[in-house]
Amino acid sequence: MAFEKLWKLAREKGSRLIVAVDDERALNDMPGLLEKLEGLAVGIKLGFPALFRLGPEGIVDITKSWGDAFYFLADYKLADIPYIVNLALLKLRELGFDGATVHMFQRGLEEALKGEVPDVIGIASMSHKSPLLDREFHASLRYAKGVGVKGLVIGATKKELIGEGKKEGFTIFSPGIGPQGGEVAEALRLGSDFEIVGRAVVKADDVEEAVRRIVEAERKALSNR
Ligand code: XMP
Repeated sequence: MAFEKLWKLAREKGSRLIVAVDDERALNDMPGLLEKLEGLAVGIKLGFPALFRLGPEGIVDITKSWGDAFYFLADYKLADIPYIVNLALLKLRELGFDGATVHMFQRGLEEALKGEVPDVIGIASMSHKSPLLDREFHASLRYAKGVGVKGLVIGATKKELIGEGKKEGFTIFSPGIGPQGGEVAEALRLGSDFEIVGRAVVKADDVEEAVRRIVEAERKALSNR
């Protein structure tokens, strides 16, 4: 089953929230942050800011210590030649990541997804203005299906595209909530499966309260879906 660990945690915690940790202050105290998030967030998304701040060894420390509590998503939006994307994915798996984002426009994923790679999530549409990607949206979905990519990123700000991805049976991940304009729980209401929230959680004065409010709104949206 695709995203088995993620769905298991989602059921156990009653949550569809993945927290993006890019903020320097948050990265300086990961154990403190993760303790606050453990009850209600299902996943932690780490990108270049985390890699630069923690280094590969620091990331392994985190994924080893917290691997039962969270689904770890590597967000490096890989887009190199298939051989290099494959090397990067294999390495991300070694670092303890459960999932990873990849671009699809460069094609070649048949080769890039070979071996023990993490779950792969294709970037179908981004949360900021991305007209070139959006123009190719339907072709990207057909391509993803053809190569066995089961998850897609579709920005929470691209409301008209979320349902189309869902209709095709993909697991949908929606970032872009808060500072980028998306409203909490709106993407889930429209058919998205997981919401990715960064600054609105990690920069909140009271992180636990912010997470609680978001998860409650998400639960309500799902119960009415
Ligand atoms: P904020 O602080 O805006 O952080 O909640 C959002 C996080 O999500 C990432 N992001 C995206 N990732 N496609 C992606 O794959 C997107 O369209 C997209 N928009 C935002 C961003 O890197 C940050 O970590």
